[in-house]
Amino acid sequence: MLLPLLAALAAAAAAWPGCEPARGPAGGCHRPSASDSAMCVDLQLQACSDAAYNQTAFPSPLEHRSREALEASSEYVLLSVLHHLLEGQCNPDLRLLGCAVLAPRCEGGRVRRPCRQVCERLREACQPAFDAIDMAWPYFLDCGRYFGGEEEGCHDPLEKLRGALDAEEAPPSGPPPTFLHFTHHSYAQMVRVLRRTAARCAHIASTYSIGRSFDGRELLVIEFSSRPGQHELMEPEVKLIGNIHGNEVAGREMLIYLAQYLCSEYLLGSPRIQRLLNSTRIHLLPSMNPDGYEVAAAEGAGYNGWTSGRQNAQNLDLNRNFPDLTSEFYRLISSRGARTDHLAIPQHYWWGKVAPETKAIMKWMRTTPFVLSASLHGGDLVVSYPFDFSQHPHEEKMFSPTPDEKMFKLLARAYADVHPMMMDRSENRCGGNFLKTGSIINGADWYSFTGGMSDFNYLHSNCFEITVELGCVKFPPEEALYPLWQHNKEPLLTFVEMAHRGIKGMVVDKFGKPVRNARVSVKGIRHDVTAAPGGDYWRLLPPGSHIVIAQAPGYSKVIKKVTIPARMKRAGRVDFILQPLPAGPKKFLQGPRRSSPGLQDPLEGAGPSGEPLGARRQPENSGGKPWWWAYFTSLSQHKPRWLLKY
Ligand SMILES: *[C@@H]1O[C@H](CO)[C@@H](O)[C@H](O)[C@H]1NC(C)=O
Ligand SMILES: *[C@@H]1O[C@H](CO)[C@@H](O)[C@H](O)[C@H]1NC(C)=O
Ligand SMILES: [Zn+2]
Repeated sequence: MLLPLLAALAAAAAAWPGCEPARGPAGGCHRPSASDSAMCVDLQLQACSDAAYNQTAFPSPLEHRSREALEASSEYVLLSVLHHLLEGQCNPDLRLLGCAVLAPRCEGGRVRRPCRQVCERLREACQPAFDAIDMAWPYFLDCGRYFGGEEEGCHDPLEKLRGALDAEEAPPSGPPPTFLHFTHHSYAQMVRVLRRTAARCAHIASTYSIGRSFDGRELLVIEFSSRPGQHELMEPEVKLIGNIHGNEVAGREMLIYLAQYLCSEYLLGSPRIQRLLNSTRIHLLPSMNPDGYEVAAAEGAGYNGWTSGRQNAQNLDLNRNFPDLTSEFYRLISSRGARTDHLAIPQHYWWGKVAPETKAIMKWMRTTPFVLSASLHGGDLVVSYPFDFSQHPHEEKMFSPTPDEKMFKLLARAYADVHPMMMDRSENRCGGNFLKTGSIINGADWYSFTGGMSDFNYLHSNCFEITVELGCVKFPPEEALYPLWQHNKEPLLTFVEMAHRGIKGMVVDKFGKPVRNARVSVKGIRHDVTAAPGGDYWRLLPPGSHIVIAQAPGYSKVIKKVTIPARMKRAGRVDFILQPLPAGPKKFLQGPRRSSPGLQDPLEGAGPSGEPLGARRQPENSGGKPWWWAYFTSLSQHKPRWLLKY
């Protein structure tokens, strides 16, 4: 039976070009279109193994007659390396879109085209990523040509990606989310818990993504605020970040539990939690490195080695991947009058490898006026605070305080002093080395490193960030999670409440309008804070008397003396009304140091999806071809000239 069938197919195929006019179904001679009958075969393409379908048909729309021919094509090679070329941006979406063209979905003997809309959306979001590496948009991702409309029954090649995030929007089954499950959470479980929690507390919580990991996982944040989704005037913003090192997983779980706890307690009417959420906007990013987590979780609790899964999928240590502004700080601090806050990111930083996770955090910091932050780690039991990079390049352990040393110490103490294990006096406990200093330490005094997230927060923005080492085991067994939560719940809450120390207020002109580029200085602390676009500012300060100065280009300074009582737990309100300077030569006015106009700043060039766009222009090779050209010439004999823009 098989032979005649094959023969008939062969005959039919041979018949297309010269078919006689009256024989087609519509009375005309036509070539079978993409939706006509086809023989479905297993997909079996490595670059498409995560597609939402598992059957395709040959010849492909690009006329590849077999899987082997397809695999040898430069179109396929492009899909396999796209991820690396774009450093994780727009992926896996783009790759899956490409798969849907090269190896289209075949179902019930019919080939289905991917939806044009999906293509158009991706093109809009991803074109800048191609521009950044001087690559033309691949011809086979031409939305007009290889894609179809809803009316022809197109399919969404990204449905599985969306599925991963939306699957649990359906009516929740199982126990109500009031119950905290003190278990490890896989990526899908984490997303589900955060989404459900936000749905349950919709009036005070919502989730959003700050970007994607290298392997394409959303970096999902849950925020709590009386008005989620927006900054409120004079409400401080706090972020807590877990799992920056993929194998240090306790912080990830603590933040998942904290999200559920905040929601439940608010609903139950806890005055403390209500007060906190009514006056603070809190953002929780339980996993900054979900790709590394997968590697660590595959080994499992107890088996995870000291380092596997620490890095992201590009093998970058995210806590070494931030711009080193600390060296710049040490250079500037000796010159009188130089600003040593809000330092610009040096251009050469962008020539190196910047992880998409790092970029996502930097972009997040730029869009939200964070005041306070903590990054949760594991492997020891101590709270460390900036600087992490030693003031002497050859000293690996050297006390290297910031101008805000006093405040940072208070912040670190706020955490450690209410942590029962950190306060435990026994020397042989986990973290016993830090007994003498009350379980807190200056980062560089512990061990010096550059490119850390905390130093960057302090020197590039208004945000004060500490680092918390939650315990000596990086990947604790499940039964350790409940005690960990018991120990860290109060420290986490107390720490977030510290956002209300010091002073806050408005810097406005005499009409009550925010003054552009206003900054607030404190005598004796060489670190200014800048006001948010709405004119509001926060200045974390230890108790005591301070001389505070508000200024802005084009306005005269206003100086105030403030006294913060030792026990005050709410930020003192100090407003400033600035008077414009008489017009005249303004050469003595200096705005805040920012990247000068004209310099390339990849964080500004955001796609509509909010994805940070890289500018990875690297030195071109001698032939004048872009650097990635060598990939293709070495991997395939076909030279994809269609990727060249010029
Ligand atoms: C292919 O997908 C279908 C439907 O999604 C599923 O039922 C089937 O088991 C899959 N086959 C293979 C070989 O994975
Ligand atoms: C917090 O805000 C809600 C809604 O505005 C209000 O009902 C509640 O009383 C407030 N609670 C506290 C402690 O401020
Ligand atoms: Zn760590």
